Amino acid sequence: MTHPLRILLGCATLVALGVGFVASSATAESLNLPKDSYKKAAEADVKFLQTRLADLAKKQKAGDRLLDGQIKPALGVALLVIAYGDALGDAPLQDNAMKVAEAIDAKDFTKADEWAKKLAVQPGMPAAAGKLPKPFKDDLILMAVMSPFRGGTVGGLNIERDIRDMTKMTNPAKIDPAMVEILAVRTAVINAYGFHSPNEKARINPANLKKWEKYSRDSIELSNQIATEAGKGAKADTAKIKSLLTTLNARCTECHNDFRDDE
Ligand code: HEC
Repeated sequence: MTHPLRILLGCATLVALGVGFVASSATAESLNLPKDSYKKAAEADVKFLQTRLADLAKKQKAGDRLLDGQIKPALGVALLVIAYGDALGDAPLQDNAMKVAEAIDAKDFTKADEWAKKLAVQPGMPAAAGKLPKPFKDDLILMAVMSPFRGGTVGGLNIERDIRDMTKMTNPAKIDPAMVEILAVRTAVINAYGFHSPNEKARINPANLKKWEKYSRDSIELSNQIATEAGKGAKADTAKIKSLLTTLNARCTECHNDFRDDE
């Protein structure tokens, strides 16, 4: 069966941009999140994108300075929405999110805002397990997809802080399964992109690449488990969620210690 992303490949502008798609891989297929969880994350992230891009378009028109911390998470979240569209069998969502990503990359926020307004979540019949798009260079993809982890006050989705607040020793934040379910879909998809976009240090030798892929794969698997448990709603085992979030947080830190230079 033709994969929906393959259809996008035929589009001239995307070919001009050098869009390539990752060949069938264990990682994209191991993104086995519940469809309903994808839908919730898609709705939340479409809302985030629409708000952020309306704001950036307004600022650009007014000639205000645009902050990288506002732009990068928008690009990252657009990439997430493309992946959700694929998983949900929602080709228009995927297609429009790709247009949003291209317009952000071109720094045309009026256009990005126009495309963002067309985003709507309408699940169809998904094709075989998703393959992640590669519309940009690995380094840009990695930078973009990691940025929603940033704090809410600096333009991100506050994911890193939320994980730490829920897992700290003293006065941990209460675990709200509905919120954690969306968080886990995001961390799964972000790490799936990460898996396919190793940074320079990870590409230096096979041993490093293996480590990179293991951290990514572990993070995806843990996120799958967290989403599944949190998806049980009021019946979710919050102690189990907390323990999984603690392990996930350790993987983030291990990978950063080995591969991240910007800290
Ligand atoms: C496979 C390795 C790897 C894993 C796993 C990983 N990261 Fe990262 N992360 C990186 C690298 C490399 C960067 C630096 C990217 C860049 O800007 O070039 C980064 C950047 C970040 C940033 C800074 C983004 C910005 O815009 O400045 C945050 C925040 C972050 N990661 C949080 C997390 C969290 C939270 C997790 C786990 C849920 C996680 N990361 C998992 C490798 C990883």
